[in-house]
Amino acid sequence: MGIIEKVSGPIVIANKMLGAKMYDVVKVGDSKLVGEIIQLHEDKAIIQVYEDTAGIRPGEGVSTTALPLSVSLGPGLIANIYDGIQRPLEEIEKESGAYISKGISLNSLDQKKKWDFVANKDLKQNAEVDEGTILGYVQETEIIKHYIMVPPGIHGKISGLKSGRHTIKDAIAVINDGGRKTEVRMMQTRAVRKAGKYKNKIMVDEPLVTGQRVVDTFFPIAKGGTAAVPGAFGTGKTVIQHQLAKWSDAQIIIYIGCGERGNEMTEVLTEFPELKDPKTGKPLMERTILIANTSNMPVAAREASVYTGITIAEYFRDMGYDVAVMADSTSRWAEAMREVSARLEEMPGEEGYPAYLPKRLAEFYERGGKVETINGKQGSITIIGAVSPPGGDISEPVSQGTLRITKTFWALDAALASSRHFPSINWLSSYSLYEGNLKNWYIKNIGREFIENRDEAMRILQREAELKNIVQLVGADALPDPERIILEIGRMIRENFLFQSAYDDIDTFSSLSKQHMMLDLILHFNMLAESAVKEVSAEKIVQLEAKKEISKMREIREKDFAAFAENAKKSIENGFSDLLKANQ
Ligand SMILES: Nc1ncnc2c1ncn2[C@@H]1O[C@H](COP(=O)(O)OP(=O)(O)OP(=O)(O)O)[C@@H](O)[C@H]1O
Ligand SMILES: [Mg+2]
Repeated sequence: MGIIEKVSGPIVIANKMLGAKMYDVVKVGDSKLVGEIIQLHEDKAIIQVYEDTAGIRPGEGVSTTALPLSVSLGPGLIANIYDGIQRPLEEIEKESGAYISKGISLNSLDQKKKWDFVANKDLKQNAEVDEGTILGYVQETEIIKHYIMVPPGIHGKISGLKSGRHTIKDAIAVINDGGRKTEVRMMQTRAVRKAGKYKNKIMVDEPLVTGQRVVDTFFPIAKGGTAAVPGAFGTGKTVIQHQLAKWSDAQIIIYIGCGERGNEMTEVLTEFPELKDPKTGKPLMERTILIANTSNMPVAAREASVYTGITIAEYFRDMGYDVAVMADSTSRWAEAMREVSARLEEMPGEEGYPAYLPKRLAEFYERGGKVETINGKQGSITIIGAVSPPGGDISEPVSQGTLRITKTFWALDAALASSRHFPSINWLSSYSLYEGNLKNWYIKNIGREFIENRDEAMRILQREAELKNIVQLVGADALPDPERIILEIGRMIRENFLFQSAYDDIDTFSSLSKQHMMLDLILHFNMLAESAVKEVSAEKIVQLEAKKEISKMREIREKDFAAFAENAKKSIENGFSDLLKANQ
């Protein structure tokens, strides 16, 4: 219908577009590239194109699909790897080799595969159903029941619902809304730009347990919470996101690789399919969906990838699942917005980013949260966004816009990273505003001592930092013995607890109970040392043989840890009592 007037990078201007609507998906040029109308001025449409526009020319045609940018949802989603507009990467590769050929149109979900659908027995013939009502489920992977819900905008009386083996395109029931009949299938589509509906937001009250000690013990994130991970180049943003995708106890993981280097995504693609859940022993891919839009892929699709990911997350949340979304990196997403905005010659805001950047960031993170879903279940979306501020300076707009909204802040520290302390989360400048919400959960599930230990360890780390400043001025020898003990305990907390290797089979994940026992052991040592230092020198205490027990903790397996901790406690106690006896 329309005619291309001008092509400028990812932006195409087309005339004669009368009848098209804002946000319609359009097919651009002879090669039918996928695009989206982002501005309309009478019959002139400004189109953002999700594929490389090299080779398309003024004069070629543009046609509208009259549909908004949407994702396809249904059985077959899990373990898939998609590009920014939900095209399955493996299929693309089969079809066109390593390079995505243009205008390729592929189904996001397998249309031929048959699934065993189990109908919801509570729904009698002619029962009243509404958007979101659960019609039944498919056991999609061993660990995930994929609930089939009434698609958005549909309600009425249901008939013909029964169990059976179907493809996602087969009708599984008919919904009759006063004579207007709609066939429902296992597949539905949802527009990505608008937040999905829910009944209420619920106060978050449960941690997302990540197995990462500095996170779970010191700066926890709630299920349904939001976190920002800003860090300079090479500080460990990607590794921490991977760790959370692997080990956190969400039921569904959506990993959005957004504008990062291809090799970072390759790692995910090759490594994730091999991983097993430490609790169920099942492959972790059985709960994971990957969205990959690397730096060599078109910039506008990167802008879309974040919406594709969060919309899939909402779909699983509506089934009552706890979903976690990782976006690496939101800075590349913001840069995509900046590039498109510049092409549109919009009035630039701070550092060239569009003035609507803070609003877009807020809208994205607001799609997280714990909710009562439209069908009355409870589900949550936790969002963890990496931010890559140039030079690590978080005074820039993307960091600032993100920090205003997110409630957990894991500050990655270049100095820690360069001294190979990982995760390089700075324990003095990071924070979690969920501590209060989660306190009762920790008390009930782990014990009050967990919170007390954490607070005490944090006090020691803060004292250690102050003392280190003094040492720099006057030297360690000038410190009184009790303060030297603080330095020693601070070192233990840092090196044996906060430090955690992502690449060590055992250390990569610590259960909360292991975390608790580890810190407990250090603080037990501290208690004995504080009292012993009244009688013996700090030097002798620091040289205690039993200290080695603490440096071994990270290497001890979960199942052996309780026994190890009991023995270690005894050796430490014996070590101190021998020391005190020798001193008499
Ligand atoms: N928990 C960890 N355990 C061991 N090594 C780590 C850990 N976290 C980070 N590293 C090391 O730091 C390197 C850089 O980490 P990563 O790639 O995550 O940084 P990044 O912040 O994503 O960098 P970029 O800005 O380039 O994307 C890793 O290759 C790894 O060697
Ligand atoms: Mg990275």
